[in-house]
Amino acid sequence: MTSLPPLDGHDPTSLWTRFSELLWYDEDLGFWLDVSRMALSQPDLDRLQPGFDQAFRAMAELEAGAIANRDEQRQVGHYWLRAPELAPDDATTAHIRLEVDRLSSFGQAVLAGEIRSPGGEPFTDVLWIGIGGSGLGPLLMVRALQQRGRGLPFHFIDNVDPQGISAVLGGLGERLRSTLVIVVSKSGGTPEPHLGMAQSRVRLEAAGGDWAAQAVAVTMLDSHLDKQAQAEQWLRRFDMFDWVGGRTSITSAVGLLPAALIGADLHAFLAGAGAMDRLTRRPEVLHNPAALLAAAWFAAGDGQGRRDMVVLPYRDRLEVFSRYLQQLVMESLGKKYDRSGRVVHQGLAVYGNKGSTDQHAYVQQLRDGLDNFFVTFIEALEDAPDIGPVQGERPGDFLCGFLQGTRSALSEGDRQNLTITLRRFDERSLGALVGLFERAVGLYGELIDVNAYHQPGVEAGKKAAAEVLALQVRLEDLLADGQQRSLAAIAEALELASPEPIFWALRHLGANPRGYRISGDWGNPASLQVIKEPD
Ligand code: PA5
Repeated sequence: MTSLPPLDGHDPTSLWTRFSELLWYDEDLGFWLDVSRMALSQPDLDRLQPGFDQAFRAMAELEAGAIANRDEQRQVGHYWLRAPELAPDDATTAHIRLEVDRLSSFGQAVLAGEIRSPGGEPFTDVLWIGIGGSGLGPLLMVRALQQRGRGLPFHFIDNVDPQGISAVLGGLGERLRSTLVIVVSKSGGTPEPHLGMAQSRVRLEAAGGDWAAQAVAVTMLDSHLDKQAQAEQWLRRFDMFDWVGGRTSITSAVGLLPAALIGADLHAFLAGAGAMDRLTRRPEVLHNPAALLAAAWFAAGDGQGRRDMVVLPYRDRLEVFSRYLQQLVMESLGKKYDRSGRVVHQGLAVYGNKGSTDQHAYVQQLRDGLDNFFVTFIEALEDAPDIGPVQGERPGDFLCGFLQGTRSALSEGDRQNLTITLRRFDERSLGALVGLFERAVGLYGELIDVNAYHQPGVEAGKKAAAEVLALQVRLEDLLADGQQRSLAAIAEALELASPEPIFWALRHLGANPRGYRISGDWGNPASLQVIKEPD
């Protein structure tokens, strides 16, 4: 590298020099990464070099099979999914290859009508039930890659919102009989998919379907879900490996099964991720796009996430990518403790949607308001062939112009931004994008010394919900005697430090026909009285 001038959004000469130095490109993938408009300086690069040397070593050990997720005593093997030959033993290599073959042939057989619904007709729909990494990756695959007229329509249950479940199941209606239901949970014990599955099963059977003949499980061997699927002889089960985390599972069955069922090229997706993996193993920061990204993130937020990442893909198909990255980055890096147990409260906040749409929404603040973010622009150069010029105007030119205009305006306002450009958008480039961010998160996690592969906050959330539900059971048991009580009396009987949790429980119970008569003023919790009416 020649000398890297400091970032000055008003000096075209220095911007051009920085652009020439900090633009990374790979011809084979048709992929550019430009971090020249991030506040990455030569002193930053020098200061970060020892951290990167250690991070490259750690990533090599992780890929060789080290227990990189020490808190859970687990290997971290998502990179093996696109290069099975790198897995630490032959059995794992063979297992990965077998699963890809099984997924691919299952998808082809369903789409060809060789595997049919119990009534004998081809499957008409897919109902995907999964949350977090078991929901967002599949949603991204479908929204990003499904082509008009190819594959089966997908429907998602990724929540326990009764109205959401009702809308999906009601929308499917009688077609539930010919719907392939895929239940996805690595642990096999997450409440959301469990409840979604129970509701769907009742509705499907009421519609005349046969659950076991229509249901597929994607889960870890011997999980509760796996045992159920085996005992009931579900149509298929596919493995989620112990060494693949939810948010990095998109190149496992979790992302490949939807790809197969929408008729997308899952091998090209894996190849794109694998190609990016090879490029991001390079131990030189300036020649490694994931290291460049991690360095730019570090410089922007002082290694403490002081600036949020706003993801702006200028492509409708990538709208879900912002949410996908939100999970990948925030669940991985948002940690209270570093790996030595020191309290650090680390993280990197991510939000976004798509351009140019967002230019008519929050981009106003990005241009003119608080300087607490950096933008990640993503663009694809290839336009749709059937959307040509009308009266001399081409939407693709406008899309490109809007991105460049916003990029320039942000830089002139001293707002940091980086740009990823794909020559064309397809399975391969999506795989490469995923691989890039997975590795950037891994390297950044090393730089800030957090375990990027566990999620204690998610586990704590599950536990807290279980306590609330247990309290509701105790409350309903108490009220079953038909006596009228105040909130304070209930709290005393249940030995609670405060009546507030009772207020929350009763507000929900009272809004539904569950047999509770609640009197008093809802704006004055102390005035409330409740009685269970006789059944
Ligand atoms: O990334 C993660 O590990 C989580 O977001 C999980 O994907 C999520 O909690 C769902 O877990 P499971 O697949 O076990 O149901």
